[in-house]
Amino acid sequence: MAAKRPSHILHRTPWIPPVAVSAEGSYIELESGQKLFDAIGGAAVTCLGMSHPAVLKALHEQIDRVPYVYNMQLSNQPAEELATLLVNSSNGAFDLVGYASGGSEAMEGVIKLARQYFVETGQPQRKNFIARQLSFHGNTLAELSLAYHPTRRAPYAAILDEQHFHHVGPAYYKRFKKDGESEDEYVERLRAELEAKFVELGPDTVIGFVAETVVGASSGVVSAPKGYFKAMKSVCDKYGALFILDEVMSGMGRMGTLHAWESCGDGVAPDIQAVAKGLGGGYATIGAVLMSKRIADGLRDASGIWKHGHTYQGNPIACAASLAVQKVIASENLLENIRTQGAYLGKLLNERFLGPNSPSAPFTFDIRGAGGFWAVEFDFDAPEAKAYDLKGQPFAILVQQHAIDNGLVIMGMAGTASLDGKKGDVIILAPAYNVTREEIEKIVKMFGDSVEAVLEAHRV
Ligand SMILES: Cc1ncc(COP(=O)(O)O)c(C=O)c1O
Repeated sequence: MAAKRPSHILHRTPWIPPVAVSAEGSYIELESGQKLFDAIGGAAVTCLGMSHPAVLKALHEQIDRVPYVYNMQLSNQPAEELATLLVNSSNGAFDLVGYASGGSEAMEGVIKLARQYFVETGQPQRKNFIARQLSFHGNTLAELSLAYHPTRRAPYAAILDEQHFHHVGPAYYKRFKKDGESEDEYVERLRAELEAKFVELGPDTVIGFVAETVVGASSGVVSAPKGYFKAMKSVCDKYGALFILDEVMSGMGRMGTLHAWESCGDGVAPDIQAVAKGLGGGYATIGAVLMSKRIADGLRDASGIWKHGHTYQGNPIACAASLAVQKVIASENLLENIRTQGAYLGKLLNERFLGPNSPSAPFTFDIRGAGGFWAVEFDFDAPEAKAYDLKGQPFAILVQQHAIDNGLVIMGMAGTASLDGKKGDVIILAPAYNVTREEIEKIVKMFGDSVEAVLEAHRV
């Protein structure tokens, strides 16, 4: 896997990653000639695979027509059409759209928009955000402050903003419930914790509560218990604060509904929402901030503008690609497909990892997900773990490496289940929405084989 060639890129990986040279559907061909099947869509991004003809056509046409305009001077057709589509497909949840070039830019836009809303509607004393531990909202300094992912924030902790960004516990029942605590009791405990945080900060100083509808890149595809989002929104409503969702990873169809809150968030629409990955499907670097009528009206009655911008906001090529991606998702009925194939994936994962003769069953803590977003969480707390020695290496990373070496791209994450980042190994799967039944079977077989091969290689 690790190429020996030199590189002038400061890579994010301790090894020099191999070079991809072509892609068709969910298959990627490397310089070496090796073919990989991408079962995680890069990072839950390529929701249509990588060679959809309708998207490629839209890209080519837009490049020929208008590749770039600057949004302080001109708007463009695909940006306008995409915004209309996003508003019209939201059943009244959203009224206006702001663009960004990815998830982090979108979440930075969310933070600034929320503050702008209160400055312009006569409540400038609101300056505090409350988010959750074991969350991820992007890699800017404000987002590392907002979120709480132990290892990603660690090197920057000394320069993060602790004055305006505050945290409450994660909504991860299976790991963090108390002995004998029911789901309803757990939700009530978290509601009370959020309310106590509001009171501690001064309720009229809170801008909003921010959460990933389904937690992605920190604890790995964790949905909150039923009733949680309703309860958290009730606290925001009580004190006039905003209820804000980050659907950068879980949104735009990933959970089998266009917005994750429709299926995994008690149907509670947010005041502001960020989307990104599934918006452009990897054909374009794009994100968006979706604004409810409350926010839109507040701003329209005040400055009437978004006081936030970047050079590539609403880029015509990015918007044309996204527009085509969204039209394909609708015209090919892909949300239904990913709900069906996702349910099958869940069934096969359960059979493979928790079946009666599965060598990995004692170490499989949880199998969870919906639609096109699934995770298997491993830990080595069971007595059977004595038969293995991982030599201090995170199991999920060993499995990820083995799978990639054998042709399957999956995402391994370590330290997903404790606030110090020392416990929990998760593998995440996020196949394209047009994945087939045969591809689902292939994913589970290759993933299962990798887990068992890594276990076998570390038997003492
Ligand atoms: C929930 C969430 N928010 C924000 C981001 C940041 O997005 P990007 O990597 O596109 O900047 C991510 C990335 O994984 C994410 O999962």
